[in-house]
Amino acid sequence: MNSPTASVRCTVNGRALALDLNPEIRLLYVLRNDLGLKGTRYGCGAGDCGTCMVLIDGRAVNACDTPLWAVEGKAVTTVEALDEPDGMPILAAMFTTHQAAQCGYCTSGILVSAAALLGHNPNPDEAAVRAALDRNLCRCGIHQRAVAAVLAAAREMQT
Ligand code: FES
Ligand code: FES
Repeated sequence: MNSPTASVRCTVNGRALALDLNPEIRLLYVLRNDLGLKGTRYGCGAGDCGTCMVLIDGRAVNACDTPLWAVEGKAVTTVEALDEPDGMPILAAMFTTHQAAQCGYCTSGILVSAAALLGHNPNPDEAAVRAALDRNLCRCGIHQRAVAAVLAAAREMQT
């Protein structure tokens, strides 16, 4: 039996798309398998780890528990776009400077959470950064360096 399909219209990294797919499929699979955007990672698959985070209309959302239909008419931004000149490339640069990745698996999601924060609060204090990264698990223990990198990126964006 074929899965039901619907045309879900949205933008992904600024590109307007009409996705003729099962609307119940999780956004994470569409990004990775249909659009080839492998930077968004599969971790727990249950909304608990934050490795799969993307921006939806500027808000950090777990793609693993977001059905495709939920992005109808919305703007999806993945970690790939953050590194473009009109994204927020200073974030990845500061993560490199501060060595804020170890295994790196969770880094995409952390960058997306940080971008969501800086998108609405360009001058956060440490507590705001910690709160923004609270939904991102990292077993390598780089949280302290990630907070420092986000604060440094915010400072750079002010200059
Ligand atoms: S893979 Fe989505 S929250 Fe863990
Ligand atoms: S750098 Fe995050 S799990 Fe290792």
